[in-house]
Amino acid sequence: MDKGASNPRHIAIILDGNGRYAKKYGLLRQQGHKAGADNVEEMGDIFIAKGIEYMTVYAFSTENWKRSEDEVTYLMALMKRYLSKNKVDALRKGIRIRVIGDRSGLSEDLRRLIVSMEEDTKEMKKLNLTFAINYGGRDEILRASKKLAERAKEGLDLKTVDEAYFSSLLDTSDIPDPDLLIRTSGEERISNFLLWQIAYAEMYFTDKYWPEFTEEDLDLAIDSYRHRERRFGARKED
Ligand code: IPE
Ligand code: IPE
Ligand code: MG
Repeated sequence: MDKGASNPRHIAIILDGNGRYAKKYGLLRQQGHKAGADNVEEMGDIFIAKGIEYMTVYAFSTENWKRSEDEVTYLMALMKRYLSKNKVDALRKGIRIRVIGDRSGLSEDLRRLIVSMEEDTKEMKKLNLTFAINYGGRDEILRASKKLAERAKEGLDLKTVDEAYFSSLLDTSDIPDPDLLIRTSGEERISNFLLWQIAYAEMYFTDKYWPEFTEEDLDLAIDSYRHRERRFGARKED
């Protein structure tokens, strides 16, 4: 039994509520997104201070293209700005940055920034910070299935394919599954995030909007996690 045991090694975050935060304080939606991006930076420092090795944040879903052109353009510019301005900081702090999601739907500029950030930070070990951009869990599983079909055509024996092999075809192939999934803003749904990987993640929902989510809120989430009993389908010992 794992109860009260260790801290989570990997926390995934559905950072929701940027728009409602802006509304609450009479700001523009874009200012809400900017405050949200700033909070990702702050939270990264807090993860490092707490020794949590993996932080995965949902930045833009495959469904978020349905938003207004203005909002999508702003979000894409914000991600570009984040990736271009944070390299020095990432290297200084020991942050390895990776991106999951379908890159083929992103602009050439953004793709180039992603590749260079991933390449330049790949030796960093303090925090593995992964951004999900143009990411959908179903899309990821579908892309992995297509890769599998290709390999089968090339002669892979499907009888040898197990869950570990399938996992290796996902965007998260070299990232462990999340132990804890946090969603802010009061919504209690997954919205197509990490569908395969959260099979046994603990869920934590908070009403706080993402830009207002603080270290104290993270502590509450971790504390809740530490008091849970993770059984992974096994029977509890009497
Ligand atoms: C989350 O904030 C950020 C993204 C989805 C990009 P929202 O923009 O969804 O904020 P709400 O849900 O409208 O408050
Ligand atoms: C989920 O938030 C996606 C991201 C945080 C990037 P949404 O605000 O898009 O999700 P729904 O529409 O409320 O399910
Ligand atoms: Mg939302």
